Amino acid sequence: MGRFATGVTIVTVDLDGEVHGMTANAFASVSLDPMLVLVCVDHATRTHAHLHARKRFGINVLCETQRAISEYYARPERTHEHAEVEAGALFDRTKHGTPMLHGALAYLECRLHSAQVAGDHTIFIAEVEDVVAREGDPLLFFRGKYRKVGEDVET
Ligand SMILES: Cc1cc2nc3c(=O)[nH]c(=O)nc-3n(C[C@H](O)[C@H](O)[C@H](O)COP(=O)(O)O)c2cc1C
Repeated sequence: MGRFATGVTIVTVDLDGEVHGMTANAFASVSLDPMLVLVCVDHATRTHAHLHARKRFGINVLCETQRAISEYYARPERTHEHAEVEAGALFDRTKHGTPMLHGALAYLECRLHSAQVAGDHTIFIAEVEDVVAREGDPLLFFRGKYRKVGEDVET
């Protein structure tokens, strides 16, 4: 899977006013009508329980300047209160109360549609209720390293 280049997202959940975020790159489009996406989440993560409990979450697509945020929300021992100082992560709330990351390339407001256990992960499929998109370049992840978009391929 390391040979499959991806973007990087932060999955965000509201926990009674607290922000919970988790770095995820196992994210994909599923359907256009209705608009459905999926994210695969390890059973061992806290996020796994939160998604089942809350049934609503945000997908924040990181831009190339947000590497520190990806690293921060992948650390198992992190707590949210240091996210601004250590990684520069700030959040607004959507009308649904879901945390939306400042400066992300895109934001998807997701309502849980279904969940399928698959090995040690669960595939969470969600309906996309709102989308915010901005200009900019994405943070990429390829062969275990963070990358930037490079040259256009010659036709
Ligand atoms: C680039 C990158 C991508 C990741 N993608 C996923 C993913 O798609 N699914 C997943 O369950 N964990 C993924 N992880 C690992 C989680 O971010 C990590 O286990 C996190 O600490 C779990 O947080 P939680 O226990 O607070 O939910 C990824 C980590 C990195 C660095």
